[in-house]
Amino acid sequence: MPRMIVDCDPGHDDAIALIVAHEYAEVVGVTTVAGNAPLSATTTNALLMMALLGVDTPVYSGASEALAGPAPHAQAVHGSSGLGGVTRMEHDRTVAGTDAVGFLLDAPRPDDWIVALGPLTNLALAIERDPGWVRRVAGISIMGGSAGVGNVTRVAEFNIWADPEAAARVFRSGADLTMCGLNLTHQFRSSDAVTERLRNVDSPLAAFAVESFDYLHARMAEFIGSRDAALHDPCAVLAVTHPELLETEMRAVDVETTGTLTRGMTVVDQRVTRRRDPNNVRVAYRIDAAGAMDVTLAALGVS
Ligand code: BDR
Ligand code: CA
Repeated sequence: MPRMIVDCDPGHDDAIALIVAHEYAEVVGVTTVAGNAPLSATTTNALLMMALLGVDTPVYSGASEALAGPAPHAQAVHGSSGLGGVTRMEHDRTVAGTDAVGFLLDAPRPDDWIVALGPLTNLALAIERDPGWVRRVAGISIMGGSAGVGNVTRVAEFNIWADPEAAARVFRSGADLTMCGLNLTHQFRSSDAVTERLRNVDSPLAAFAVESFDYLHARMAEFIGSRDAALHDPCAVLAVTHPELLETEMRAVDVETTGTLTRGMTVVDQRVTRRRDPNNVRVAYRIDAAGAMDVTLAALGVS
């Protein structure tokens, strides 16, 4: 089983990713960042997920702001709490600490992965404190960016757009990087048919997933006119736990931090010429969506 630290901003798809991660990896710790909702909410949600999972994985809270200032949120999609529409079980879990960056720097062993599911602020701060850190981990698997369409803007995806300066630092850090961008994650979607399969499972995790998908599907109906919802964050976990489900290509990728129309864009060198810039990122292009859904549903107790 691979070992990983999950840096996240739960968030509905982060929550499903945490469930998948705990099924197929040894999760050494969870660090939280402001993103889908303010830091206090994403941290509360991470603790709720640990309680639902019945695991003792330590949760460390991290950055409440982007490097350049206040963090934007995605509460229109995820709800003001970051996990709209879900029942919250009673529990007495608290954070193990508030120095997520210190935990990221101290905890990993050389074969540990960092899986980043939110804005990259915590990771950028870790690199600032110790640029050699990225060479002491197996790699960083990121849900973020795109080798195509954006979601917040025409070309920018939320996690990168929310803190482009942080993302630029991570992409230029020399880390072994895998990027699961929107061009990939839009291939992996939940649907009402998936929710129906989960309704037959009698477990707190499946009940959570039903409420989560019902909420997300209603938001998608409002925003894009179709109820299916891309399951972005689980893709970055699966890139580590089930790499055979993904097809990747090495590419040169940089983050635009100044463009008027393109701030927060991951600019991927997809030229066919031999004069391409040096590759720094393993870009995921295709996912076996049926296989990924089987693996995800198995983690939620569907046999
Ligand atoms: C990403 O943004 C967030 O809203 C999701 O949790 C995911 O990490 C998709 O753009
Ligand atoms: Ca996320």
